[in-house]
Amino acid sequence: MHPFFALISALALALVASATSSYEGFPPAVCNNRTTGPNLEVKQQAALADFAHLYIDLHDIQTAYDRWVPGEYIQHNPNAPQGREAAIQILSAGFANPEVTSTNATVFGGQGFGAIHFKLTVSPTTSFAVVDYFRFQGTCIVEHWDVLQQIFGNETNPIAFF
Ligand SMILES: *[C@@H]1O[C@H](CO)[C@@H](O)[C@H](O)[C@H]1NC(C)=O
Ligand SMILES: *[C@@H]1O[C@H](CO)[C@@H](O)[C@H](O)[C@H]1NC(C)=O
Ligand SMILES: *[C@@H]1O[C@H](CO)[C@@H](O)[C@H](O)[C@H]1NC(C)=O
Repeated sequence: MHPFFALISALALALVASATSSYEGFPPAVCNNRTTGPNLEVKQQAALADFAHLYIDLHDIQTAYDRWVPGEYIQHNPNAPQGREAAIQILSAGFANPEVTSTNATVFGGQGFGAIHFKLTVSPTTSFAVVDYFRFQGTCIVEHWDVLQQIFGNETNPIAFF
């Protein structure tokens, strides 16, 4: 990893950590679907921030899913098969194309759910505003929904989408 990028990543993680009051042993090698207790929501927020960093910033789908989606994954995307392996395959194949980028992420969670809103560009002429949202069990993500709006660039609203 380039030293500058490593520094930025470390700073980003430190910011995420302070914003979500990260806890001892964070991030874990793998989440725990039996975690309970008064800090569960904060732990789920930290989990989602780390998942989003791996997914949106680093495109490290394998680590994101190995750490936060190790088991059950109920899929509601109409075009994807069930389960984490299918999601890993589809997302990894997509991000293998250097024209595919993801930026402008907003990440938040509560009440056992978490959402990531971001800009997904799949080709020089095709972009989407995407919301992925997830249900947690303990600190693990176990269910996924998504919605997409295509960005044409001719929108009437000057602050369309972001
Ligand atoms: C929790 O995770 C374990 C280990 O992956 C799995 O065997 C178990 O079925 C999960 N529990 C529930 C309620 O999903
Ligand atoms: C979206 O991300 C791009 C690239 O990182 C950045 O230049 C732009 O300012 C961002 N837009 C908004 C509205 O945050
Ligand atoms: C923007 O372009 C799309 C695709 O050509 C078209 O369907 C849509 O009606 C246009 N929107 C506006 C506000 O002109």
